[in-house]
Amino acid sequence: MKQIWITRPGGPEVLELREAEDPRPGAGEALVTVHAVGVNFADIVARRGQYRDAPPLPLVPGYEVSGVVAQTGPRSADATAGAPGPAVGDRVVAATRFGGYATQVVVPAAQIWPLPEELSFGEGAALFVNYLTAYLALFIAGGLRQGGRVLVHSAAGGVGLAALQLARTAEAEVYASASPDKHRYLKELGVSGIFDSRAPRYAKIVSALTAGRGVDLVLDPRGGSSLRQAKRCLAPLGRIVAYGISSAWGPGPALPALLRLLATTPFFHPFALMNANQGIHGLNLARLWGEIERLREIMARIMELVKAGRIRPVIAQVFPFEEAASAHRYLQERRNIGKVVLAVR
Ligand SMILES: NC(=O)c1ccc[n+]([C@@H]2O[C@H](COP(=O)([O-])OP(=O)(O)OC[C@H]3O[C@@H](n4cnc5c(N)ncnc54)[C@H](OP(=O)(O)O)[C@@H]3O)[C@@H](O)[C@H]2O)c1
Repeated sequence: MKQIWITRPGGPEVLELREAEDPRPGAGEALVTVHAVGVNFADIVARRGQYRDAPPLPLVPGYEVSGVVAQTGPRSADATAGAPGPAVGDRVVAATRFGGYATQVVVPAAQIWPLPEELSFGEGAALFVNYLTAYLALFIAGGLRQGGRVLVHSAAGGVGLAALQLARTAEAEVYASASPDKHRYLKELGVSGIFDSRAPRYAKIVSALTAGRGVDLVLDPRGGSSLRQAKRCLAPLGRIVAYGISSAWGPGPALPALLRLLATTPFFHPFALMNANQGIHGLNLARLWGEIERLREIMARIMELVKAGRIRPVIAQVFPFEEAASAHRYLQERRNIGKVVLAVR
């Protein structure tokens, strides 16, 4: 099989295509022939050697694939009695904890879901990270109620568009930030207000857009001073869900950017939150693998929504598997509207 390795910290050029032994499934696992790989922002951070949750380099990145089950291992003793596991020939979505940039993967059965027939392999590779993160942020950590008001940053990205679609299932009023060339696309989706994701003091803009009411929820993947602005956007009982530090990942050197991020990150005193009736909730999907049953419940809901035609991944661009470096360039240059995918031929 083939894999794409991050050989050392650096730019897209450090990605290297290598041959490896075909893997074999053990008990409770399945071998999946990969058709598409989902590319995530975290892969770029890992490639730069700045991702705390990644194993040491060199490593094969990749959190999610879609494909066809080629082989299954012996059924594991702890498999739920009677529950059908993945079978040879099934079209599936699989979550990989690293190792997804590969033409074959071996995955525990609990991390595999049937790919709804409505979706292509490319769309299947855009489900797990984006929709789970968005669902957890909106409805579990964020407690978004029916008809609530939510601000989604970088709303034209993978997680952003998933959040917009899921928020619509709750008839939420959505406000969005994004690079200006993506505004037209987002307006056509019916967002109630939009502004540049680089606007530093955006709380005033949100106040004007919401006629001073503020929002019930801010989804913040930016970190640093954005969190201070996010707090100013909140209506009473409002919450921030902090799930990234993208403001630290610019094209310049990483260390000064990280120090700047730390220096501008506000501390929220519990008394201040109490008196303002506000909350802040962190979210890191990479640290939720121990909660796989809970994640499966949410994935089941996501699959229902897909089958009902209420949500559907948006694919920004599909790159050949061998051109992962171009896919990384495209994502880090902020050009994507939707998910970036690698296709295996
Ligand atoms: N905590 C978690 O569990 C979790 C899970 C998934 C993703 N995330 C985070 O969510 C964010 C979105 O992830 P994604 O995979 O869906 O990526 P994405 O949103 O599809 O792509 C990245 C987008 O983020 C914006 N951006 C802001 N700062 C950027 C920078 N310094 N470099 C490049 N792009 C930047 C750009 O949109 P605009 O130019 O339109 O602003 C860009 O198009 C990332 O911060 C990621 O780390 C967190």
